[in-house]
Amino acid sequence: MQRDPYKLVANIYDHLMKTVGYAEWAKYISELREFYAPKSETFLEIASGSGKLAFYLNRVFKNVILLDISKSMLLRIDAGLNRVCADMISLPFKAKFDFIYSTFDSINYLLDANDLQKYFNEIHKILSKDGVFTFDASLENNSLKNLKRLNRREKFQNILYIQNSLYDVEKKIHINKFKVKLDNGEIFEEVHLQKIYNFELYFELIEFAGLKVINCFNTFTFDDANKNSERIQFILKRKHA
Ligand SMILES: C[S@@+](CC[C@H](N)C(=O)[O-])C[C@H]1O[C@@H](n2cnc3c(N)ncnc32)[C@H](O)[C@@H]1O
Repeated sequence: MQRDPYKLVANIYDHLMKTVGYAEWAKYISELREFYAPKSETFLEIASGSGKLAFYLNRVFKNVILLDISKSMLLRIDAGLNRVCADMISLPFKAKFDFIYSTFDSINYLLDANDLQKYFNEIHKILSKDGVFTFDASLENNSLKNLKRLNRREKFQNILYIQNSLYDVEKKIHINKFKVKLDNGEIFEEVHLQKIYNFELYFELIEFAGLKVINCFNTFTFDDANKNSERIQFILKRKHA
């Protein structure tokens, strides 16, 4: 029987992401919560993917809601957790959240600065008075430095896949192409696009949305980031309660 090509790519993607070290990542997010929002009681993860972080965090972040635009990603998450299928630029909540987080370049999936602005506006609507929103963003140096590693041809569970990664410096778009050879010999291709925004633009749009940057670190550390950083971690609050 022919296997579902979308599921094959999702499996390969999951496999590649395992090299990321989600336990470490969860610990970092948990530390940020403890430091910046120790009293937080309501939690939202945006662009949760297949719930890799929730696996570690759902016991600490009680009743966390996991939101993603991809139904197939959400279906990979334990049905006992709260899952919401929605676009991050149009959040379907009336309630406010004390701690909102989003990881692994998810913000870079918004390909247009207008959408980025909409996203911050949406966060402003649902962030509680002392609430904290933290997310990471990939900068140009991440794209430039990791290109070689992201071009690979490997086998996973007997499936041959090829990942081609390229960075369009003019358009500031990072392109990841996954090609999988199906059982019938056909090639299936999935393309992921990410926009690499300037360091300074984040600060402008955040401010414009009525939010403020409390800190901006090199992700996984508590060291200040700058425009030459690879992956940066924003910690935001509302400008006015
Ligand atoms: C690189 S994955 C990261 C997944 C997860 N945060 C993790 O660390 O494993 C990016 C995720 O963003 C989701 N995504 C992309 N655009 C989105 C949007 N407009 N709204 C909500 N989720 C989106 C994708 O479906 C995907 O699950």
